[in-house]
Amino acid sequence: MTTPIWTPSSWRKHQIVQQPEYKDLAALQKAEQQLAALPPLVFAGEIDQLKTDLAKVAKGKAFLLQGGDCAESFLEFNANKIRDTFKVLMQMAIIMTFSASSPVVKVGRIAGQYAKPRSSDTETCNGIELPSYRGDIVNDIAFTAEAREASPERLVTAYHQAASTLNLVRAFAQGGFADLHRVHSWNQDFVSNSPLSDKYQNLADQIDQSLRFMEACGVNSKNTPQLHETSLYTSHEALLLGYEEALTRKDSISGDWYDCSAHMLWIGDRTRQPDHAHVEFLRGVKNPVGIKVGPSTQVSDLEKLLEILNPENQAGRITLIARMGAEKITEHLPKLVQAVKHSGHEVIWSSDPMHGNTIKASTGYKTRSVDAILKEMKGFFEVHKAEGTHAGGVHFEMTGQNVTECIGGAYMISEHDLADRYHTHCDPRLNGEQALELAFLIADTLKAARN
Ligand code: PEP
Ligand code: CO
Repeated sequence: MTTPIWTPSSWRKHQIVQQPEYKDLAALQKAEQQLAALPPLVFAGEIDQLKTDLAKVAKGKAFLLQGGDCAESFLEFNANKIRDTFKVLMQMAIIMTFSASSPVVKVGRIAGQYAKPRSSDTETCNGIELPSYRGDIVNDIAFTAEAREASPERLVTAYHQAASTLNLVRAFAQGGFADLHRVHSWNQDFVSNSPLSDKYQNLADQIDQSLRFMEACGVNSKNTPQLHETSLYTSHEALLLGYEEALTRKDSISGDWYDCSAHMLWIGDRTRQPDHAHVEFLRGVKNPVGIKVGPSTQVSDLEKLLEILNPENQAGRITLIARMGAEKITEHLPKLVQAVKHSGHEVIWSSDPMHGNTIKASTGYKTRSVDAILKEMKGFFEVHKAEGTHAGGVHFEMTGQNVTECIGGAYMISEHDLADRYHTHCDPRLNGEQALELAFLIADTLKAARN
């Protein structure tokens, strides 16, 4: 059977779910045309570099750290917020690099994570039914009919916000802000202030000694750019395909297509039907692609997805992001890992311990417990150990801000604390301290996996 021709718009002939209903289709078309004329946000060479970096993860020679907001917001958009997320990702990365003794590929859920899939098309409050909030790229979170209307102009606003976010991220990465010594001193501050400081001190001291040893050997930030600069790639869920299509560009050198809205795109748990539009769109672009794999994922569908999305079996192209839930991971993951191993596909297995562990607190808030998150991650590593496969990465919803959205952790955030600083536009995120704690808590697991 020959494969049908792919074009950036061939997805439009396929069934599609999780899309907003725009009333003004002419305005939608205008916004998409505007986007299509704007410069790409990232370029092909960078996307290829990420794929090369991820190929090392697939081969067990590096580790992937992916994290950031569940949904970036237009309103809470400022330099401090971007800086704090960037900082925590770098702090986690240094802990993981040290524990795993291998490079960590850093990918943010940032500069484009604006569209959200929803479990229901509408939301009812006090007897009033309105369209669900689908992320700031679509509509507004306020519960009024006007706010919930899908507005095409938001596509263009999202592009500009992504562009200025990315600009700052690049400046932080390359301008010395992320110097290894500085990141380490942030970690030392974290450790000395933490109620669990005894638990983390030993690892922090070991990193300290390694940096001093390097310094004594003459390896320092002045003569070694790797200590002074870093890279943070961008990623988001490729949900709103009109936006993705408009930013898809043909590389003038290779003639290949790249979705230049981000380095990496992923397909969500609700839009991974093999014959639907989202899979059709992503099969034609060269970017690394993530696939969320949940408790409902069938082995046969996963095999189909790998064939469609990675027929040439390129290492670094596919990251399977398992999001099973702490209680289900050891039951559901092994058969999928075995099937992929058997198929010969070279993939990265990454653990998203967030999306299968969302619960409703007695106070009404959507939350997740640090304990469940840790349990799912440990289950993920156990399964890979038993199967002899590489547990290649982790995927977190987190922020550098001091929010109270997930319960537990060293500061013992309780259900009653959630109301204090619950700011997420969608799912509950780990705050900076909780995210760092998890990095410290999986350090031993990473070390064991290395050995
Ligand atoms: C997400 O990553 O924010 C998300 C919605 O995940 P999933 O598709 O796995 O539910
Ligand atoms: Co989420």
